[in-house]
Amino acid sequence: MQALRQDFPILQRKINGYPLIYFDNAATTQKPRQVIDAITDYYMNHNGNVHRGVHTLSAEATDLYERGRECAVEFINAKSTHELIFTRGTTEAINLVAYSWGMQNLNRGDEVLVTLMEHHSNIVPWELIARSKGATIKYARVNGDGTLDYEDYESKITKNTKICCLSHVSNVTGVINDVKRVGKAAHDNGALMLVDGAQSVPHMKIDVQDLDMDFLAFSGHKMLGPTGIGALFGKEDILEKMPPFQGGGEMIREVSVAGGNCSVSYNELPYKFEAGTPDISGSVGLRAAIKYLEAAGMDKVLSHEKELTEYAAKRMKELQKVTVYGPSDVSKKCGIIPFAVKSMSSHDTALFFDNYGIMLRSGYHCAQPLHELFKLTSSARASFYLYNTKEEIDRFAEILGELEKL
Ligand SMILES: Cc1ncc(COP(=O)(O)O)c(C=O)c1O
Repeated sequence: MQALRQDFPILQRKINGYPLIYFDNAATTQKPRQVIDAITDYYMNHNGNVHRGVHTLSAEATDLYERGRECAVEFINAKSTHELIFTRGTTEAINLVAYSWGMQNLNRGDEVLVTLMEHHSNIVPWELIARSKGATIKYARVNGDGTLDYEDYESKITKNTKICCLSHVSNVTGVINDVKRVGKAAHDNGALMLVDGAQSVPHMKIDVQDLDMDFLAFSGHKMLGPTGIGALFGKEDILEKMPPFQGGGEMIREVSVAGGNCSVSYNELPYKFEAGTPDISGSVGLRAAIKYLEAAGMDKVLSHEKELTEYAAKRMKELQKVTVYGPSDVSKKCGIIPFAVKSMSSHDTALFFDNYGIMLRSGYHCAQPLHELFKLTSSARASFYLYNTKEEIDRFAEILGELEKL
């Protein structure tokens, strides 16, 4: 993986006189030259609006936009391009399901099951729709080490449960959830399964058919791609029955106001859910990112991150005033480590590291319920990706040692 570093121009940067160490990959990832070049090439040579024009540039832009979709479809092993809707990211993908599917399918007395480890993006859209439709949200418990309490989750699935929602990987602890097990429990009870893949799709091979997901949401910017593009995978028969989420542009087949009444018919999948001009260069960048990850090998990406996590956890254990949260068994998680330094706020910790060119996240990482459970107001978080190295972790541990001495 070391050789890949030269593909990332930003990794040459110095911050406060020190070489940049980027450990905030769960928030967003850095972009390789291949992604930057693909976007530049699109704007320099092919820019046009998609699906609407007969001229050369419109045809080229449409072709490039759709090639991005085909690439994403193959990456997650969806059955066809009808099942992959481009969104701005995970948040918009989950909102799409909550509003479109939820508006049609949730009623008074129905239940939505989420967990206490969810990112706010997999809680708040459900709370909003449930409040307007009179449905109830249930929260499955999380164990003290951040792993899911599966018995509690499964016991909370009832005949009223309409959809079960779960993050595949927690953005706070890096815990990997058994979405296949939970999906089976949901399906056995006639409920659907939505998986928040924001932290899994970038880091491991995902097969939506094997995992039997009904919906999967993910973000391009967390997997080497640009910001502003992400996707919702949905099984075709489910998407087919859902009403549009937003109106206008490509989602329309026909609009007529003849006779004073407006009649509207909608485009086929996936366009029914893509209103307005889409993020064309985003699709181009996402394709380049997926190609890059595939060339690196998703199995290698995951094993590299696990190795780094194990090494970092070992180095952090040597320190007296540092508490690491989440499971100690690294096989249950991937490359995210939340921690606290005694008597120091997470923001002060992150600022101290910033002095040495090390980028960490601090706060509650849009997962306040999990921090409430851990009785924390916030935590510092180091998160790794394919371009990080053991030498960077040594430097991180050295600075953490300095901080502890303060
Ligand atoms: C688990 C999880 N879900 C959802 C999101 C939201 O992703 P986005 O901001 O790209 O929509 C994030 C972002 O950190 C995340 O980690």
